[in-house]
Amino acid sequence: MSTFRLDGAEVPFEEGDTLMAAAVRAGRHVPHLCWHPRLGQSGACRLCTVRVDGRLAAACTTRAAPGLVVENRTPDLDGRRRMLVQMLFVEGNHFCPGCEKSGDCLLQAAGYELGMTGPGFEEFHPQRPVDASHPQMWLELNRCILCKLCVRASHEIDHKDVFAIGGHGIGTRLLINSPSGRLGDSALAPEDFAAQVCPVGAILPKRRGFAVPIGARRFDVGPGADAASAPAEEAGDVRN
Ligand code: SF4
Ligand code: FES
Repeated sequence: MSTFRLDGAEVPFEEGDTLMAAAVRAGRHVPHLCWHPRLGQSGACRLCTVRVDGRLAAACTTRAAPGLVVENRTPDLDGRRRMLVQMLFVEGNHFCPGCEKSGDCLLQAAGYELGMTGPGFEEFHPQRPVDASHPQMWLELNRCILCKLCVRASHEIDHKDVFAIGGHGIGTRLLINSPSGRLGDSALAPEDFAAQVCPVGAILPKRRGFAVPIGARRFDVGPGADAASAPAEEAGDVRN
């Protein structure tokens, strides 16, 4: 099997693999927010940016090739990642201690893993609505990081196209495909992949809180825990 080098270690890959897919299969962690093993490529968050033969590239969209030399966890790349995470935090309204997703949130975990100790930038405090119109699901747009996972899940897996991204620049936002533009009028069902794939606490089931207690959640065991590990993937785990 062909290999490339990732932080000095040989990583085998299969034909068509991205660097991310091969790294995850080999049990190597590449920080990411918008990648999921069941979904197509996006390149939305850039957190997975690595250096490939000296050039910056997204690990989740770059094809593996024999002999590539890939740098992943270097101080400068992690510094770039830390800045991206800080920008995501200040661009939305993220109050981790009061969020049901705390301890199970990729954004929060990335902040811890990358050594984020503060916002780093002036906080925007945008005014965004909470859509509680669906009988079984919440949509908390204050926490949305526009990763497009729900958009892709609804299109590629559920075949419903419930979600889309609209607007430009600071006005970019998640849109709902329904007559009213609200979730309650959409075709979203709680068992949809799109309803379960959100890496943060933006799409959550109603009437379900702290089913997994604080302290026992997946990132409570360690901030760098890679939820995209091969065992979870093989088990059909929807988590990214
Ligand atoms: Fe990503 Fe969640 Fe926002 Fe959808 S609602 S774009 S999955 S953060
Ligand atoms: Fe690669 Fe988001 S995980 S760009």
